[in-house]
Amino acid sequence: MKKGNYYLTTPIYYPSGKLHIGHTYTTVAADVLARFKRFTGYDVMFLTGTDEHGEKIQVSAKEKGKDAQKYVDEMVEEIKLEWEKLDISYDEFIRTTDEKHKKAVQKIFETLYEKGDIYKSEYEGCYCIPCESFWTEKQLKENKACPDCNRPAHLTKEEAYFFKLSKYQERLLKEFEENPKICYPTSRKNEMVNNFLKPGLDDLCVSRTSFDWGIKVPFDTKHVIYVWFDAVCNYITALGFASDNTDLYKKYWPADVHLIGKEIVRFHTLVWPAMLMALDIPLPKMIFGHGWILFDSDKMSKSKGNVVYPKPIIDRYGIDALKYFLLKEFTFGQDGNYTNRAFVTRLNTDLANDLGNLVSRSIAMIVKYNQATIPSTKEEREFDNDLRRVATEASEKVENAINNLDFSGALEEIWKIVRRSNKYIDETTPWVLAKDEKKKERLDTVLFNLADCIRIISILINPFMKNTSEEICRQLGIGEENIQWEKTFKRDETLVGNIVTKGKILFPRLEIDKELLELEKANDKYVETIVARRSCTT
Ligand code: MSP
Repeated sequence: MKKGNYYLTTPIYYPSGKLHIGHTYTTVAADVLARFKRFTGYDVMFLTGTDEHGEKIQVSAKEKGKDAQKYVDEMVEEIKLEWEKLDISYDEFIRTTDEKHKKAVQKIFETLYEKGDIYKSEYEGCYCIPCESFWTEKQLKENKACPDCNRPAHLTKEEAYFFKLSKYQERLLKEFEENPKICYPTSRKNEMVNNFLKPGLDDLCVSRTSFDWGIKVPFDTKHVIYVWFDAVCNYITALGFASDNTDLYKKYWPADVHLIGKEIVRFHTLVWPAMLMALDIPLPKMIFGHGWILFDSDKMSKSKGNVVYPKPIIDRYGIDALKYFLLKEFTFGQDGNYTNRAFVTRLNTDLANDLGNLVSRSIAMIVKYNQATIPSTKEEREFDNDLRRVATEASEKVENAINNLDFSGALEEIWKIVRRSNKYIDETTPWVLAKDEKKKERLDTVLFNLADCIRIISILINPFMKNTSEEICRQLGIGEENIQWEKTFKRDETLVGNIVTKGKILFPRLEIDKELLELEKANDKYVETIVARRSCTT
């Protein structure tokens, strides 16, 4: 019996360049959440996709001398391969160039027009192409720079349709007061209230006429629908809203969580909810704006050339290492600085020393002292109980942390068991017990307890590090049918008699300075191949 439905989304990515680890971050977090929810009994719908219209994409395609559709088709294939490489478990992949999406967006636009929430007028103001954002002159920084990305915005004047965002100001304010999760964490909510809601919302320009790469306004085809209006609709059009088959929409809407980066909180927590209010449909239950991964304290971005890509890292260390690092190192709601040194250091301490060592030492001792068989447990001591308490209390704490999108906190709870188990080995010194025949029972207890704690750890890390989890279970002789969340609450006697197998080293210890050079070389080489490939295809 399923516990219920759970719908989560990532932002849809612009297919205008190679995705970097900033983009990987959102998607990996969503993937862990989706896997965790499935693991704990929910019927999950995990949506990701690509945001393919707008001036930015049209300009990029032109620069490459390509037809826009052909250009996005190629880029989207690359993005899908990237997610495959990272083993992202999405259920649906939406492209905003899908016919179903285009038709539904036109219907939504028409509905709001007929309702009087969209009207025709003229837009005069500034526009930032990389951010696809309208700004008033007052909002721009010095030298007419975009307040979000610092790049120059340009003046534009065109006939346009507007969405009556201002009409929803009071309802939005009320929603912000009553529902803390409409914009989470609280720091982001305060920013929206103080900088946008309280000063007053202007109506939003929702069509463009100066280029044509977009969804046409159905009743006035020289206009294309503003790319952000088109894009946010993906969260409902992917479920079949405004189509012939609305089964998924009925099943999964409202979304449990939209995961987004902090710079797109404004579109998601002000414009999107106002559009939903205008459509008379429920708002998402939570919108979470996570922080940025910075590089030298600056936002990683292709135009600044300070980019780290996931591929060279995965090729050298595997996806589990990258996923672990991204979700442990950074607090999800806050910015964090990426350095290769931090990555390699964490691999050595948490993965090679703490987890890897625990597993290899314990398995080796079971092999050596009990003919590779997990013994039964006969007695308990004070630190046995302490170990067991840490191990069996973890799952509830992990669940709470993940439900609050505190991935780092969840991993910390799991690593408490890892560290406590390592301490347990030092306290019980199995190699001393093994020398004394009279202490055989005690030795059996220690070995059983270690095997059982490692079992619990391997199940708890499953949503984060599937490969490592399965490899540990294999070494412990645990079948797939026993990798179940419910089995982390208590001791599992069925382990007794399992034959353990020494396996490959889970995470080899790294020589930091050598690795730093290798990592830098691998990233530079990868960047060269991207540049070379791009120039071949232009
Ligand atoms: N297409 C829009 C989203 C539309 S959603 C209806 C967009 N695309 S994006 O490709 O530019 O960015 C996608 C996501 O990647 C955003 O949430 C953004 O915050 C995230 N990141 C891009 N660089 C990042 C970092 N350096 N660090 C963390 N996340 C970052 O915006």
